[in-house]
Amino acid sequence: MKTVLVTRRVPEPGLALLRSRGFRVVVPEKDRPLPRADLLRWVKNADGLLTQLVDRVDAGVFAAAPRLRVVANYAVGHDNIDKEAARERGVVVTNTPDVLTEATAEMAWALLLGAARRIVEGDRGVRAGDFKGWAPGLHLGQGVSGKILGVVGAGRIGAAVARMSTGFRMRVLYWGRSRNRVLEKAVGARRVPLDRLLRESDFVTLHVPGSAATRHMIGRRELALMKPTAVLVNTARGTIVDEKALVTVLRKKRVFAAGLDVYEKEPLLAPGLARLPNAVLAPHAGSATLETRTRMATLAAGNIAAVLAGHKPLTPV
Ligand code: GLV
Ligand code: GLV
Repeated sequence: MKTVLVTRRVPEPGLALLRSRGFRVVVPEKDRPLPRADLLRWVKNADGLLTQLVDRVDAGVFAAAPRLRVVANYAVGHDNIDKEAARERGVVVTNTPDVLTEATAEMAWALLLGAARRIVEGDRGVRAGDFKGWAPGLHLGQGVSGKILGVVGAGRIGAAVARMSTGFRMRVLYWGRSRNRVLEKAVGARRVPLDRLLRESDFVTLHVPGSAATRHMIGRRELALMKPTAVLVNTARGTIVDEKALVTVLRKKRVFAAGLDVYEKEPLLAPGLARLPNAVLAPHAGSATLETRTRMATLAAGNIAAVLAGHKPLTPV
């Protein structure tokens, strides 16, 4: 009987799928990140491994797992997995694209609107009793309609964010390694160099993968190019932004606001970030809707079942 180690409980339909294919499914009792030592111990007998984005799957894990054939990450991102080490061992790596595209794009919009109209700051003030009545100059934010949206990385999620902008009649600029003609046609998006996108956009939303190549892609120099009225949104990976530099520009109001779902040293925040009223902070929850998490679970399980049955994975990275 083949064994699948699931590093942390996922929605039941995923586990049920694995059991229905005759696999022994091992899920830790405690609902918390699996300690490294437990992962290394339990992976010994595993033919398949269903991982969370907080699990570091490196050469050490592969060395401890002689039977391992497939690692299914419960995420679209896979910067937590050493793909080179997997290749050397002949282990297939899969992720969960598509099923979380809309949910993550919605989170980007929630953060964009929340940061532009200062929703969290306002909510806090109202609860604290600071709202003394309507005033012409009270709580002014940035309008969204008719403005310029800059999408950095025009893959699935970036393109979905761009498509959702049509209701706001926005002009869309994008930066990407390759052209996305479908997006250009759908919303009239224009591909421009990154510096130009940063200079001209009113809203900059990040959708490149986390990797060595994208680390601090938005650093002090890039933040300085942005308009003082602009809003930065990051639902991709914290490592893409130099978080310390971001805190500085937000504090000095050289950028109007930021909406963040991801952090450089998750779950730690850069010093000062939590005290900034012009930062809207979400707890890495882009894909966190009930229906999306269920689809992620069945897709990850489906990937493991396919590979262990000798078939092609559904969504290899
Ligand atoms: C979440 O961050 C994911 O990569 O799915
Ligand atoms: C605002 O509430 C308005 O009526 O303009």
